[in-house]
Amino acid sequence: MGRVEGKVAIVTGGAQGLGKADCEALVREGAQVMITDIKVAEGKALAAALNAVRAGSAAFMEQDVRDEARWQEVVAATVKQFGKLNVLVNNAGFVAPATPEATTLEQFKMHNAVMSEGTFLGCKYAIPAMQASGGGSIVNMASVATHLGYPIFFAYSAAKGAVRAMTKSIAIWCQMQKYNIRCNSLHPGATDTPMIEEANRLLGLTREFYTQSGPGLGQPEDVANVVVFLASDESRYINGAELLLDNGLTIQ
Ligand SMILES: NC(=O)c1ccc[n+]([C@@H]2O[C@H](COP(=O)([O-])OP(=O)(O)OC[C@H]3O[C@@H](n4cnc5c(N)ncnc54)[C@H](O)[C@@H]3O)[C@@H](O)[C@H]2O)c1
Repeated sequence: MGRVEGKVAIVTGGAQGLGKADCEALVREGAQVMITDIKVAEGKALAAALNAVRAGSAAFMEQDVRDEARWQEVVAATVKQFGKLNVLVNNAGFVAPATPEATTLEQFKMHNAVMSEGTFLGCKYAIPAMQASGGGSIVNMASVATHLGYPIFFAYSAAKGAVRAMTKSIAIWCQMQKYNIRCNSLHPGATDTPMIEEANRLLGLTREFYTQSGPGLGQPEDVANVVVFLASDESRYINGAELLLDNGLTIQ
């Protein structure tokens, strides 16, 4: 038996980086996964690769998480194809480094639209489907940027702060309603993905900046292992929590 055997998951931003690792780990542990992303070719290729490992384990839908109507379509299509919904990983995200003064209002709104509004919409439309499925687990990707001052990631930190806060309200609301739905946030430090490569390029940083620091650079599977744990019933008493995945960065 896999650790999430028989569960059905949606992973946003699943075409690359942490989302891709989440999809691979969830399928390896027995789940069926609806992969969504704005990157269509990469998402389709991942679904094909996962279906080659286990037929019927994955599907892909193009989705911009800012689009409310598309969220309703993604949830409905997932339930139609796989019969239910147990897990939502609100993973889609991006970062455009800029200081508070340099950040434009447009950039600020964009970070919040993708990460704060995208996470809100995902929860809003997944909760009824999960409830109808007997319950589930929502995993919201936040960041250590919610715990530390990161002026260079100003808008990103603000959007992730909203994700951190809404996670707790969702957890308590679902408990009050006896929905049997848990909701937790994950707070990784720097992890080796295309997002970090792009941020490094924009900031003129090299991999050595991370690899020579105490915490080092996390790997996507370090996050995916925790996503599987939170998606599984092993974590049934963890609700409204914020899990730091930073090898001690925030306690230094
Ligand atoms: N890599 C890190 O160091 C790190 C650290 C902390 C938190 N995170 C968070 O983890 C999540 C995944 O990050 P990653 O490093 O894998 O990034 P990534 O850039 O490698 O992957 C992000 C994915 O999200 C997709 N995406 C972006 N905007 C979207 C939108 N509007 N709708 C749908 N999909 C969209 C992208 O196409 C991409 O496939 C993000 O929420 C990020 O903020 C990453």
